[in-house]
Amino acid sequence: MVGRPGRTVVEERLRGLREELGAEVCILNGENVADGVGITPKLAERLLAAGADLITLGNHTWRRSEIAPYLREAERVIRPANTWAEAPGRGLAFATAADGTEVGVVNVLGSLFLDPHRSMWELIDDLVDEARERTPVVVVDVHAEATSEKVALATWLDGRVTAVLGTHTHVQTADARILPGGTAAMTDVGMTGPHDSVIGVKADLAIHRMRTGMPVRFEVADGGVRLEGALVTCGPDGRATAIEPVRVPWP
Ligand SMILES: [Fe+2]
Repeated sequence: MVGRPGRTVVEERLRGLREELGAEVCILNGENVADGVGITPKLAERLLAAGADLITLGNHTWRRSEIAPYLREAERVIRPANTWAEAPGRGLAFATAADGTEVGVVNVLGSLFLDPHRSMWELIDDLVDEARERTPVVVVDVHAEATSEKVALATWLDGRVTAVLGTHTHVQTADARILPGGTAAMTDVGMTGPHDSVIGVKADLAIHRMRTGMPVRFEVADGGVRLEGALVTCGPDGRATAIEPVRVPWP
């Protein structure tokens, strides 16, 4: 989700939408909520109060310095696992569904353009094993630029996790599917925010920077707001039975 428009639609629409969809757990990627880059503790608390059970982050995790001490203590806000070993916070946490089912949530960063400290491939198997020791329902948010990395990770984890859902590119992909082993996958779940924009940024500013190469201070756009995501259904064994894109115009 991106900026104030994204936060507004989450605060005004998420609870009702959860009821309409019967969504028992809601995971939200919140790394772009603070003016388009990063997140603050106050904004994280607002998103949790608005109906998100767990917040994942990404390459902009550390943009706001106040988030570091918050992440050290936070149980419902996680950052990519493949960062420095001593970085505050964690890359795996658990949410609890209305019926008591625990849902393990793993957050990792892809390599292309994002240059994580470690490759997600070095630690994804251990993270999934750790999550599965507690629950068969495990969701992976793979925050990555390259479709190939996201598809490869979903294929690698097929049969071991409930869903592998991509974030970061902000454009919802048309490839929601259940893989042969029972893992739901979608390369990018889309953007909750202003779609009359260049992936959330005022289009004229983004285009000016691309055309001239000159530094431009980006501002979050405000038109064409939509709430986007994916709805995954699974059985008690953690195998996915359905995945559907969510795409709700607002207001
Ligand atoms: Fe990102």
